[in-house]
Amino acid sequence: MEKIIIQGQKRLSGEIEVHGSKNSALPILAATALVNGVSEIHNCPRLSDVDAAINILTHLGCKVTREGHTVTVDSTGMNGCEIPDDLMREMRSSVVFLGAILGRAGEAKLSTPGGCEIGLRPIDLHISAMEQLGAQLTEDAGKLMFQVPQGLCGARITLTFPSVGATENIIIAAATAKGRTVLTNAAREPEISDLADFLNACGARIHGAGDSTVVIDGVEALHGTGHTVIPDRIAASTYLLAGAMTQGKICVKDIIPAHLGALLPVMKEAGCDLTVSGRWICMSAPPRLRRVKMTRTMPYPGFPTDVQAPLSAMLTIADGTSVIVENIFESRYKHAGELVRFGAKISVEGRTEVIEGVPYLTGVHTVAPDLRGGFALILAGLAAHGETTVCGVEHIDRGYEAPECVLQALGADIKRIQEDGTGEKKSTKEFAAEPTQNSSAAVEPARSTAQTDESDTADRAK
Ligand code: UD1
Repeated sequence: MEKIIIQGQKRLSGEIEVHGSKNSALPILAATALVNGVSEIHNCPRLSDVDAAINILTHLGCKVTREGHTVTVDSTGMNGCEIPDDLMREMRSSVVFLGAILGRAGEAKLSTPGGCEIGLRPIDLHISAMEQLGAQLTEDAGKLMFQVPQGLCGARITLTFPSVGATENIIIAAATAKGRTVLTNAAREPEISDLADFLNACGARIHGAGDSTVVIDGVEALHGTGHTVIPDRIAASTYLLAGAMTQGKICVKDIIPAHLGALLPVMKEAGCDLTVSGRWICMSAPPRLRRVKMTRTMPYPGFPTDVQAPLSAMLTIADGTSVIVENIFESRYKHAGELVRFGAKISVEGRTEVIEGVPYLTGVHTVAPDLRGGFALILAGLAAHGETTVCGVEHIDRGYEAPECVLQALGADIKRIQEDGTGEKKSTKEFAAEPTQNSSAAVEPARSTAQTDESDTADRAK
């Protein structure tokens, strides 16, 4: 196990690029299982969630190689239809393989994703959509077995909530279903459009991805292609907030600024000076941040739930009282208790978090509760006086590639060491140069894989 140690109060400055989007790479890798050919996925981040997706593809009989940030998937010989329990548990988004496996193999066997830490993890929208596309479900001892004896058939599907994962599953499954699928109240996240761009380049006929109505005309089969994953808007947002918390001046390059559309007004309200141009955003922070009156997380293009925890961290040292309302997930405030240990003044009631800004934080020993909440603690450590130790780094490695390297490049005093203190650890950026190939054993994990879910501690907002 590893931990991150930070000597806080270093002003961040400089330019960085962010890695490819985790939330795009995962469904695109899942979709490669539907392709009868070779897919080359570029700008694929080195993350433990990506390792988990590669392990599932390998288990299904696909040949996977990785060189740097390119993952090549040859799905020609795919012959599996089951995701074993241990692989399901590695990553909640493994459910997004359902549509691809069903479309390709005509049957799929998986267990319910997620684990004990996260409570009830509904996948009812995914299941109902597959049934509407013609799948028959039988359940046996926690195993879900789907069969489509007649093959998937297009349908009119309306989601009761614009679930990102369910939208992705439907688009993938419908891509080679017979006839037309019309999906309404679809999620509109940029990662949905990226998935559709990949599938369309493989020969699919998907229209309207990124809007709330998506029309998919099923095609006979998909062929291989090359595709470059979009930049990670959540990582970009997180690093901008890191700059803001340290009175920093940083530029994040090679991103799609429109994807951060909901964050920028919030940062401006906090007093940050932002310049947006082409594919970069530059941010200069004020000596003291101002409070942000009210932020509500919403489906895209609203404020992303994945940036809620990092924003909470920033607001702990803003002047005045800020309020955040979490509308996507319930119980996504596990980081709040840890931030209080830094000296933050936070109260949480139901879905509402009230943050009374304090003049400064003090470094502590802390444990990452989940992916984004874990990074919120790194942010607090960067701003805090003295030393901060963050354990549970495996959560953070699911979604941020070598964060210590990125932050070091901006001037942070941060290092990763073994939890037993036996020395500094080689970074994932160094691993990235090493090619791996063709078996789950050959795919060296970027870091150890934890129980994975974007919101490990979150249940659906009721
Ligand atoms: C995706 C993102 C995650 C982000 C989330 C919301 C990936 C890998 N993950 O997760 O980073 O936080 O979108 O923007 O892209 N729900 C149901 N039934 C279902 C499916 C979902 O009740 O069948 C609930 C979930 O429990 C959650 C809400 O709907 O409370 C939103 O979930 P969803 O949009 O599906 O999120 P994910 O696709 O899991």
